[in-house]
Amino acid sequence: MSLLQVRDISKAFGGVKALDGVSFDLPAGQLLALLGPNGAGKSTCFNIVNGQYRPDAGSVRFDGHDIGGMKPRDIWRLGVGRTFQISATFGSMTVVENVQMALISRERKLFRLWRLAASFFRDEAMELLNQVGMAAQAQRPCGVLAYGDVKRVELAIALANRPRLLLMDEPTAGMAPGERNDLMALIKKLVVERKVSVLFTEHSMDVVFAFADRMIVLARGRIIAEGDGEAIRNHPEVQAVYLGSGKTFEKRRSGKTEDLS
Ligand SMILES: Nc1ncnc2c1ncn2[C@@H]1O[C@H](COP(=O)(O)OP(=O)(O)OP(=O)(O)O)[C@@H](O)[C@H]1O
Ligand SMILES: [Mg+2]
Repeated sequence: MSLLQVRDISKAFGGVKALDGVSFDLPAGQLLALLGPNGAGKSTCFNIVNGQYRPDAGSVRFDGHDIGGMKPRDIWRLGVGRTFQISATFGSMTVVENVQMALISRERKLFRLWRLAASFFRDEAMELLNQVGMAAQAQRPCGVLAYGDVKRVELAIALANRPRLLLMDEPTAGMAPGERNDLMALIKKLVVERKVSVLFTEHSMDVVFAFADRMIVLARGRIIAEGDGEAIRNHPEVQAVYLGSGKTFEKRRSGKTEDLS
């Protein structure tokens, strides 16, 4: 049985059908990319899986639990992590303190005074930072970090809850190509070594084809294609959707980096 089972979910906003009967499976230890042009419904799909939105119809099962419509906090407790926007890290706190906060939260501990908490989970926080390549910057305030480094800290924070499923909506947005590859290589390592499942969106096709195990393409709220890189590349409907946006896979093959979004 797959770790995540999405069945026939729909979600409308006013007259717009953001998702219209979407079903897919995500087995343990798989890196699954959710692709599609702007407005296709990718973020809506994430927000249903993490509990931000309740689906109008359909079901979402995670590890045997029916999580469709559950509160985000409860879904998080079951082991569904996500990477957040920059604002989710506290700029005035150091890198290691941010990760310690996440660990304290996992253990459901509350501390009235931060200084009491300062020594808690220090070693575990440092170990997580080591995994994401941020140990050397542990004592710096998050507010002064480069963008790619903030993303690494966010990943460490997400990992603090020991998720079995990670949801990452455009994890490499705003990064230079080298940084993108480094971050995705790191995520891939987690997938392989810890059997974490990852659902991610990504606008750079180079990144997707290099790292994803499988891909799903959404257009106007429906899945139009599913498969590995080769299947997606050669799929006529996918090509039509991207040709419609004036961009093709052919350009990418000729060596230019294309953002198909
Ligand atoms: N909270 C909302 N209220 C109203 N409309 C929404 C809301 N969220 C999404 N939509 C609409 O639903 C559709 C799907 O949006 P969604 O954000 O899921 O697309 P996306 O695939 O993530 O796009 P992008 O690549 O631009 O991030 C769009 O037409 C969008 O305008
Ligand atoms: Mg989106």
